[in-house]
Amino acid sequence: GKPIRVALLGCGTVGTEVARLLTEQAADLTARVGAPVELVGIAVRKPNKHREVPSELLTTDAEALVASDVDVVVEVIGGIEPARSLLLGALNAGKSVVTANKALLAEHSGELFAAADASGADLYFEAAVAGAIPLLRPLRESLAGDRITRVMGIVNGTTNFILSGMDATGAGYNETLEEASRLGYAEADPTADVDGFDAASKAAILASLAFHSRVTAADVHREGISAVSAADIAAAKGLGRTVKLLAICERVSHGDEESVSVRVHPAMIPRSHPLASVGGAFNAVFVEADAAGEMMFYGQGAGGAPTASAVLGDLVAVARNRVAGGHGPRESAYAALPARPMGQT
Ligand code: NAP
Ligand code: HSE
Repeated sequence: GKPIRVALLGCGTVGTEVARLLTEQAADLTARVGAPVELVGIAVRKPNKHREVPSELLTTDAEALVASDVDVVVEVIGGIEPARSLLLGALNAGKSVVTANKALLAEHSGELFAAADASGADLYFEAAVAGAIPLLRPLRESLAGDRITRVMGIVNGTTNFILSGMDATGAGYNETLEEASRLGYAEADPTADVDGFDAASKAAILASLAFHSRVTAADVHREGISAVSAADIAAAKGLGRTVKLLAICERVSHGDEESVSVRVHPAMIPRSHPLASVGGAFNAVFVEADAAGEMMFYGQGAGGAPTASAVLGDLVAVARNRVAGGHGPRESAYAALPARPMGQT
């Protein structure tokens, strides 16, 4: 078939691995998609530092790359701007988008979904929540016929790496955070991780998909781990417990009416609880649905290669949709459940 032409925006921790997998697995991807998947350009800020990719692919003009003859735009820059404008430009032009950008989706999913739906393009973002773990596709597709009541778990690898390290070896907060950054787990600004903003963005995305609502990061009650001390962890240990940063998304009934409650905060959980044994940068998420009952999703929640796995999965999905002349689920057909901050009814 006609080649699927891909623009990659960003070539950092995640983008480097996306470029590597796209190149190394080109023949397999062609077979799985039914058409060649061609990486035609990579937008970065400082092209001279990118020796790991062919120099002829690099550009500093992301806008021109998006506007060029491409079918799919993969965004792994992060942050709100210029990512938002670039992706709106792509979607408005009917180009499908794959992104790992939870901060952007948690603020602007409404306008991005509307642009995708208007032009018939796809917007996929599996990598935005829980790294490599297939979680958003199950919520959007596999469980679309069920009624999800609760989504709860560990969705930030960096804070879990820090808390697990402090619990296991008594390692210090700052040295563990530095290691998490070195390993490519932390955000460019790690306060996004330790103050719970990253988990709050992910919780907003999970709640929006699970409850067919439109929850933004501002609707999420948020508390990070910067106030959790070595003494707190030792005290929890003495009680047979451990400290985890949890994201909890629930459907709440008020008489005949329902709304959504979403919160992120550290919690002391019994060491016998399945979430207590989730170590390092792993994530684990429980989903409860009326017919399905309880499910647990577990795996690597951060890092270049695990995140790139999810990006590549989305890329194959949107490329297959293009080859078939169709598209993925439309989000503007959602039945809105009010997204209300905790405590407000
Ligand atoms: P990163 O290492 O900081 O990489 C960002 C890349 O974007 C760099 O290559 C940078 O170029 C490029 N860039 C920044 N501003 C740009 C601009 N205006 N135009 C063109 N390129 C620009 O970040 P990352 O860790 O790969 O994360 C990328 C995204 O994935 C974020 O949304 C993040 O939240 C998400 N994510 C990350 C992980 C993870 O484990 N790291 C997991 C899941 C999701 P230069 O290299 O030239 O500076
Ligand atoms: N900084 C994020 C984390 C990356 O530590 O979980 C994965 O989304």
